[in-house]
Amino acid sequence: MRYTHNEGRKYKLRWVISITNLQTGVTVWLTGLSGSGKTTITTALAGRLGQCRYPVEVLDGDVIRRNLSKDLGFSKEDRMENIRRIGFVAELLTRNGVIVLVSAISPYEEARFQVRQMIGSFIEVYVNAPLAVCEKRDVKGLYKRVRSGEIQHFTGIDDPYESPIEPEVECRTDEESVDNSVLKIWDVLADRGHVERCTSLVQVESAAN
Ligand code: ADX
Repeated sequence: MRYTHNEGRKYKLRWVISITNLQTGVTVWLTGLSGSGKTTITTALAGRLGQCRYPVEVLDGDVIRRNLSKDLGFSKEDRMENIRRIGFVAELLTRNGVIVLVSAISPYEEARFQVRQMIGSFIEVYVNAPLAVCEKRDVKGLYKRVRSGEIQHFTGIDDPYESPIEPEVECRTDEESVDNSVLKIWDVLADRGHVERCTSLVQVESAAN
């Protein structure tokens, strides 16, 4: 395959950046209520990063709970342990140059602080939508089951959610588009040198081609 001069530069730049990334992975930790939009943003961001050939891995709360944390419930102790386990895996991947996207309610400030300390290269994203909006979306039909009394200790209803105090990014998913949220996170990744800067998703798209 032959490249024009400019294409050659683009490919060389991406190669240099990916080498840099090998030394500096990062964990992007998305926290928020069930139905706030964590998975939607994570999937969109992972897709863009993958298209641009960045090494990316997703650790999703629901998936982790079906596998690594199968033995855990939703008491404070179990949620703390769940976050510790996710943080442990995220740290291993981050250390090996991966852009790790964690999507988990992670309701306790203390647990989020601990994983931040453990991982070091860490970006906290508060995926924020009012409880009423999350409940109205009810993507998994869980809020309905909570209101009928079938599920107890549900985050935001009868179990606590401690909002992040100083997240690197806040996504108001009831007010902004998914693309907008992705770009906000992309900006912070670019500020820290993990990805090339893009001012629009069209640019992300074209950098991938
Ligand atoms: S966390 O609190 O330990 O961070 P995690 O993100 O792994 O939670 O898992 C949350 C998912 O488990 C929710 O998206 C939902 O599908 C399911 N779930 C089942 N019971 C509960 C509950 N009581 N509170 C919150 N989520 C629950």
